Amino acid sequence: MSNLEQTLSIIKPDAVERNLENEIKEMFKNKGFNIVKEKKIQIEKAEAEKFYKVHETKPFYNDLCAYLSSGPIVVMVIEKENAVLANRDLMGATNPKDAADGTIRKKYGISIDKNSVHGSDSIDNAKIEIDFFFKD
Ligand code: CDP
Ligand code: MG
Repeated sequence: MSNLEQTLSIIKPDAVERNLENEIKEMFKNKGFNIVKEKKIQIEKAEAEKFYKVHETKPFYNDLCAYLSSGPIVVMVIEKENAVLANRDLMGATNPKDAADGTIRKKYGISIDKNSVHGSDSIDNAKIEIDFFFKD
């Protein structure tokens, strides 16, 4: 049964800064993802705080929001069968040290905070996050 989904991916500042945008997009395309929307932007810290609101009680919240707004990011809507889970698999574990071979974070992540990519963690959050960046 076909289960085409869309999810939100962000290439984070550490990866954009190292010019990894094209390499990371190739990893998505090689896994069968279609990039249906994309834009390179820099967001304000207040926007990052809204985006990461689920983490507002975490000790890393302030640094996380400062970091996401510290430089250009590439925000993408990516699509394939079971895209939400497939993207989480391709990203790898939050901490690059724990990420499996072949994942984006294993290949490019620097540290738990500079881990190169964001991906929605559920179908509901994918819809919310896609709207956050692409609702006009
Ligand atoms: O990004 P992911 O969904 O894998 O992880 P998360 O638990 O939703 O955390 C969001 C982001 O916060 C991570 O991607 C890290 O960049 C950052 N983080 C951090 O800096 N320190 C932690 N101990 C946990 C997460
Ligand atoms: Mg998350």
